[in-house]
Amino acid sequence: MLNRCGRRLLLALAGALLACLLVLTADPPPPPPPSERGRRALRSLAGPGGAAPVVGLDTAPAREVRSLSEYFGRLARARTDTGPLPGGASRPADAVPRAPTESLAPRDVFIAVKTTKKFHRARLDLLLETWISRHKEMTFIFTDGEDEVLVRHTGNVINTNCSSAHSRQALSCKMAVEYDRFIESGRKWFCHVDDDNYVNVQALLRLLASYPHTQDVYLGKPSLDRPIQATERVGEGEVRPVHFWFATGGAGFCISRGLALKMSPWASGGHFLSTAERIRLPDDCTIGYIVEALLGVPLTRSGLFHSHLENLQQVPASELHEQVTLSYGMFENKRNAIHLKGAFSVDADPSRYGN
Ligand SMILES: *[C@@H]1O[C@H](CO)[C@@H](O)[C@H](O)[C@H]1NC(C)=O
Repeated sequence: MLNRCGRRLLLALAGALLACLLVLTADPPPPPPPSERGRRALRSLAGPGGAAPVVGLDTAPAREVRSLSEYFGRLARARTDTGPLPGGASRPADAVPRAPTESLAPRDVFIAVKTTKKFHRARLDLLLETWISRHKEMTFIFTDGEDEVLVRHTGNVINTNCSSAHSRQALSCKMAVEYDRFIESGRKWFCHVDDDNYVNVQALLRLLASYPHTQDVYLGKPSLDRPIQATERVGEGEVRPVHFWFATGGAGFCISRGLALKMSPWASGGHFLSTAERIRLPDDCTIGYIVEALLGVPLTRSGLFHSHLENLQQVPASELHEQVTLSYGMFENKRNAIHLKGAFSVDADPSRYGN
């Protein structure tokens, strides 16, 4: 376990440096090499290049990020910044505790877990041993390679046949399959999480039950303090600026069936990929683009979703049981996990999911 963590730390550092280099280069990036966590930490921001200036962390357009710690420093500040937004944009409304509006069973919710074959043992096994083990009927694993061991654990494994590269296109390819499978399932809610997320299914059901699934609901947590600014390609050689909020994929997000059906012209079949190409941003940004920019449905922000881009030590121990998703990983080159005094030591259980 310790060895695995050491290796992960090294990989994460190498990955983070690579991602930083990507941010600093203006040329359209080659498909980024698959590497560990730090790479993923930055993908929503570092993904595109070329014609789409991605500005999310500062009012000054495309200000260069000089170091990784500056980058994370700005991310950290982003969460506390409450100043005015450019262009009179408004902030997403916060989800407030509400009374249940409908009764919701686990089978009403479709949880898509996005992974890649390389992480079946390193990440997915942990989820299968913890939260997924008790919620197999609602969990669907979207991956990119055959794995008999995995299939023996759970029936709901979908080989997307997407590329295993950690490229924008490969990620959008998986999201497209997730969306289509959700629509086919007939379920009331679509939730997407990553393979390093812990899902507290009881808290998730409580949250979702307080919204009507037939209405337009997009729930999650943005990792930026302002809408992302992108360039939308609207015709032959024609572009225009567009800004919108998006829920960070690494924290997990949910979409009601009512809203998912309206997304169909831009998300179903092969359309998700062409929509992603229109703004040249990763999968989670593309969801925000469809929902906020194209359909005009605002993101509802919930503080109950957590990615490894935030300091997880700050989630109060007394409120852990209320959180919908948790994560673990690296933050400012330190191990980032929730603070939990459990039966297992940090070395034995670095993610704290086993406790
Ligand atoms: C992936 O390819 C296999 C074999 O051709 C096929 O059975 C499966 O349906 C494909 N998966 C998707 C999501 O299209």
